[in-house]
Amino acid sequence: MAYATFTATPYGPALGAEITDIDLTRELSPATIDELRAAFLEFQVLFFRDQDISFDDHERVARLFGPLGEHVGKKTLSKATDNPYVRKFHADENSRKVSGDAWHTDQSCAPIPPLGSMLHVHTVPPNSGGDTLFASMYAAYEALSPRMKTYLDGLTALHDGAPIFGAGTPSAEHPVVVEHPETGRKLLFVNRVFTTKIIGLSDHESRAILNMLFEHCERPEWQIRFRWRANSIAFWDNRCVHHCAIFDYWPNVRSGYRVQIEGTAPPVAAGATPAVAAE
Ligand code: SIN
Repeated sequence: MAYATFTATPYGPALGAEITDIDLTRELSPATIDELRAAFLEFQVLFFRDQDISFDDHERVARLFGPLGEHVGKKTLSKATDNPYVRKFHADENSRKVSGDAWHTDQSCAPIPPLGSMLHVHTVPPNSGGDTLFASMYAAYEALSPRMKTYLDGLTALHDGAPIFGAGTPSAEHPVVVEHPETGRKLLFVNRVFTTKIIGLSDHESRAILNMLFEHCERPEWQIRFRWRANSIAFWDNRCVHHCAIFDYWPNVRSGYRVQIEGTAPPVAAGATPAVAAE
């Protein structure tokens, strides 16, 4: 689709677009907002360059997509700022780990995972490093064989937050195949970080199917790799995109801010038959 109010340049065949000819530090026109919402659904992850945004700008742009939400985890690596919705993430020579360095959907352990996250990185490692990978779960689902699609329809899986964020973090059961609430497209909704068990299968069966699905989701055919520059923004649709932050830049600094937008419960794909528990 061609956009009249900005330029959208596709980043890869399965997902992603770089949006140029737009200034997010200014109020956007109603036409631009409509087109941004459409581009978000079309490309699944939008990238912006040279956007020296304030916390207020960050919050204002994110709110165009829904109410802002808060992280479910108590033990996160990001830190609060003086804006309740903006969290700081920062890595430097003292960092042994960064958040999000394995393929995941943000906080899929929550009964209602975020709709999306908007990350503004103001400081990047010199030369290279700190890229983020994104993968389309529409494309991953569509590439499954018809037999496997039929098998997965109606199954649900447990997503557990405790191993990552500590005891007391929510866990939730979600359909393995969900229908995107806005586009209606089907997608795979399991990820290596949070999904621990397919309900109704033995542990052995569940582990085998989940490992097969994780490997499938992580195939390069439906991935892109975003190279950050100072004041880039990535805004991903957490309902259909996996991502993975690469921690290859120690002891250099990578630093920025993030906000997340509240979602809705992942809907079961239409036509799915409910899973029958085998145990
Ligand atoms: C994350 O949200 O998982 C981290 C993404 C990043 O730092 O690029």
